Amino acid sequence: MTATVSVESSDRPLASGARFPDGFIWGAATASYQIEGATREDGRGPSIWDTFSRTPDRVYAGHTGDVACDHYHRYVEDVAMMAGLGLASYRYSIAWPRIQPDGTGPVNTRGLDFYDRLTDELIGKGIDPVVTLYHWDLPQSLEDRGGWTARATAEAFAEYAQIVHARLGDRVRTWTTLNEPWCSAYLGYGSGRHAPGVRNPASVFKAVHHLLLGHGLAARALRSAGAQSVSITLNPASVLPLDPENSADLEAARIVDGLNNRIFLDPLLRGAYPDDMREHMARFVDLSFIQDGDEAIINAPIDVLGVNFYTPTYVSAKPGTPAALDAPGTEGVAFREPVGPVTDIGWQIEPAALTRLLDRIHRDYPGTPMMITENGASYSDGPSEDGAVHDTDRIEYLDGHLRACLDAISHGVDLRGYFAWSLMDNFEWAEGYAKRFGLVHVDYTTQQRVPKDSARWYQEVIRRNGLTD
Ligand code: NOJ
Repeated sequence: MTATVSVESSDRPLASGARFPDGFIWGAATASYQIEGATREDGRGPSIWDTFSRTPDRVYAGHTGDVACDHYHRYVEDVAMMAGLGLASYRYSIAWPRIQPDGTGPVNTRGLDFYDRLTDELIGKGIDPVVTLYHWDLPQSLEDRGGWTARATAEAFAEYAQIVHARLGDRVRTWTTLNEPWCSAYLGYGSGRHAPGVRNPASVFKAVHHLLLGHGLAARALRSAGAQSVSITLNPASVLPLDPENSADLEAARIVDGLNNRIFLDPLLRGAYPDDMREHMARFVDLSFIQDGDEAIINAPIDVLGVNFYTPTYVSAKPGTPAALDAPGTEGVAFREPVGPVTDIGWQIEPAALTRLLDRIHRDYPGTPMMITENGASYSDGPSEDGAVHDTDRIEYLDGHLRACLDAISHGVDLRGYFAWSLMDNFEWAEGYAKRFGLVHVDYTTQQRVPKDSARWYQEVIRRNGLTD
């Protein structure tokens, strides 16, 4: 992006309600395995996603993150692109296997050096770094020792957090421990759609707990090392009963809301698992892995809650339905197929569901400042004959969801910022490179970056701190 981008509509008046609060943080997000490539460079150890993507039939067309967007070598160019976009902030993740190739023990300073250079580059361009410590690339050697089903992984995570903070803490103010622990636990150990590809309900709940414990231990370590802002990013679901008048549908919604939301939010923000979720977990596993004092650790104060949101979840009671693998214990619960407009990945578009979700968290967990740490849409538009990428559907999606944020703010939700997912097209996990979420198009053959129309549109939203009528 360059400063020469002209946007004709810049003088159109703003509806008073379309402006965001002063100081609202505008950013974009990525994650290490999805963009970096260089998986064997500078002492990086293997991660569960290296293993998983090499296992036949796990990832679309056998794609891997080996090269991805080659960001490891192109970060200077990429940060310049972010600056052109006018981003105030950039959310990126640290690859644990670059820092501790074996998950524990010796520190690989060359891994830290990369993030040191990246962080300096961002600060040099006036972009505030927001660091996520874990965005799914667990060192394989920790998985070999039980992964997130093992308490030792939570302890190792706190040690790793301290190591990264010791190197970057003089420049990074905002620290996010985990990204979407629901995915790590339920997709990683339940449906097996994500690495490490395990299918075992007992493992799901052990993983939920040890991820949360890892968060709590790391939050405590970061705080005592002087971190200014500590957070965790969840993907809370906007769960609705198909028929709100139907008590069986309401019951289905209670279970799914419990598994997706309350099992995380309650221990994090209220200091205890909900009773119904304890009972639910106990159907699958002996809960002795939850030790006295663990919930107090998980309840470590956070400064902001990261919310990733894409699509709503509608459920109903349907006797005879088998439980979904990524929702153990949901026999008799049907997840409705998307209706109405969907994105390329098949996810229903309903911005009002985001407002409902933010309002709900605000109501049930009062006093929780929030930040949208991911929101975006997969559309596969590539360059047209004029060389530009006319991704009008993405603009519409983003516009609708930003208006949904404004609605929540008008209801009193303390929403501090918004990070678009994603800065650029990247490795979309089990979907490989087939799904494109970027504001910037990436040609994976040439590694050329082309800002899409949505990037220019977002640049203008940032400049105005608001939307047009
Ligand atoms: C959630 C994840 O955090 C991110 O890695 C992923 O690419 C997007 N959502 C889209 O699925």
